[in-house]
Amino acid sequence: MEYVENTQLNTKILVKETLISPGFYTTNIRKLSNVDTVSFQEIFNNAVANLKNDYSKDKYIRDDRFNQSWDHIQGEAQELIIKLLEMYCAAEYSGFILYKELSYQLKETNSILSDGFSLMSRDEARHASFLNKALLDFHVRPSLDFLKKEHRQYISLPFSWFIYSTYLSEKISSCYYITIFEHLQAHPEYSIYPIFSFYKSWSEDENRHGDFFGAIIKSQLQFSNGLIAKLICKFFLLLIFSMTYFKYKSNDKLLALLGLDAREYYVSTIQKVNNSIRKDLPVILDVEDPHFFEKLDICLLHISENKKINISNQNMFLKLLRKIPHHLTILSIMLRLLMMKSMRG
Ligand SMILES: [Fe+2]
Ligand SMILES: [Fe+2]
Repeated sequence: MEYVENTQLNTKILVKETLISPGFYTTNIRKLSNVDTVSFQEIFNNAVANLKNDYSKDKYIRDDRFNQSWDHIQGEAQELIIKLLEMYCAAEYSGFILYKELSYQLKETNSILSDGFSLMSRDEARHASFLNKALLDFHVRPSLDFLKKEHRQYISLPFSWFIYSTYLSEKISSCYYITIFEHLQAHPEYSIYPIFSFYKSWSEDENRHGDFFGAIIKSQLQFSNGLIAKLICKFFLLLIFSMTYFKYKSNDKLLALLGLDAREYYVSTIQKVNNSIRKDLPVILDVEDPHFFEKLDICLLHISENKKINISNQNMFLKLLRKIPHHLTILSIMLRLLMMKSMRG
């Protein structure tokens, strides 16, 4: 524990240092360098011009509403808010470092992509710093040791996985921010901390990041024939949407604090994202079909059975054997979902 200056309240506050763990990612730089920004000039120019406009430049200013102590938020509510801030702070730092490094690595080989990544790293740094300050309101200061390069362990993602997962994570977070913003506008009684009122600009920033990746995805579709491109697209959508949906139970208390039902929130987020990405993709999943989420619920039951086996006292071999039928059921459901009727992008 140590004292730090709170310039807003003009006083010193006691803070405890916490570890946040951003992920460090990279991908095939040669393939990124080769992205054809000339044939898709208009789309890339638009995406980069939108980032250059810096619409949210003056949006993240801690106004008078922050000039107070937040010590009245205690117990579980305080723990949940800190968990939320830490989780997003780590994600924003992760994006900042990723985009900053990509921008640097592409400087000589692909100036349009390099510019885009540099502008996105500016936004992510702004978001991370805003969350950093918010954590101080709750007497928590994230350790920034991870900014030192020697402490990082990088995960190299295959190129297609990288562009689809980053594209969708930007679009999903954009949807997350605007859904919470609109919900709290309609139900201000749940707005327990002013950060949520910044979520509209935040959503717009993430949406612009998604559009930039949308341009990269479009430029890649030319390399595969229609059928393969559609199958790859369906595969990534299914994988990322199901991984997102499987997280809903671990965030249920957090969303309940804001007056939202976790399952309903995740279903509607995935449906909204799916609808918003049809402009960039050759095909989208039919997530309006109620069977889609019913089947994912069955997978969740098998996942939780496997978790129970994991914490049992049996030996490793027996655990593995007992988990096989659950893994096979999940795999067969996923294959059936992949074969489900899709919708035109
Ligand atoms: Fe961000
Ligand atoms: Fe972003």
